[in-house]
Amino acid sequence: MGARSLAWLEHPTDNRKVGSSNLLGPTTQKQVDCGIHRVFLLDVNRVSVGSVYVGSDHAGFELKMHAISTLRELGADVVDVGPFEYDKEDDYPEYAKRVCERISGTANRGILICGTGQGMERAANKFPGVYASVCWDEFTAEVAKEHGDINVLCMGGRTTSPEVADRIIGIWLNSPFSGDERHRRRVKEIKEIEKEHMK
Ligand code: RB5
Repeated sequence: MGARSLAWLEHPTDNRKVGSSNLLGPTTQKQVDCGIHRVFLLDVNRVSVGSVYVGSDHAGFELKMHAISTLRELGADVVDVGPFEYDKEDDYPEYAKRVCERISGTANRGILICGTGQGMERAANKFPGVYASVCWDEFTAEVAKEHGDINVLCMGGRTTSPEVADRIIGIWLNSPFSGDERHRRRVKEIKEIEKEHMK
C-alpha cells in the first residue's frame, strides 16, 4: 500500500478525491457525486466490460437497493438477481448462487450483501473463478481489489452505512489490480489451490 492509502486510514473522513482517478483518460471519465462530499471518477469503458450482478438476503435488502441506484448513477450495467421484495425468511446462499453462477469464467462482477457480508463471502468463495471478500471501509476495499483482484464484493447491511457502501463501491470499481509481482504470485497461488481442491 502506498502513502496515500495510509493517509486515508489516518484521516478517514477527509474530502480528498478517492479511487484511482489518475489512471483514467480524460475522455472516458464520468464524474459522480455520491452525496458524501467526495467525487468518484469512473472509467465507464472499463466498467462496461462486464455487468455487475447484485444480490442480497433480507438483512442486506435495503443496502442492495441503495447500491443498485449508486451503480446505475455511476454508469455501470447492473443486474439485480433479487430478492425483489423484503422477505425475512430468505437465505443468503440462494442469492450468492444466482450472482456467482454468472461470474465464473466471465468479465462480470458481483456485489453480495447480507447482514455482515460474511455468509455471502463464504458461499461465494465456493464457486470456481469467484474471488470474494467482505469490505467495510476504503482501506479494505482498496486492498481487496489492488492486492486480491476480487471479482465479488461482499458488504454487510447491518454493519455498513449507505454512505460508506458508496465509497467502497467507488473504490472497488475504480481501483485496478496492482499487477505487482508479489500480488500476481499470490493470486496465482490461490488459483492453484482452487485447481487442486475444487473439482
Ligand atoms: C441473517 O439473519 C444473517 O445471518 C445473514 O444476513 C448474514 O449476516 C450472515 O452472514
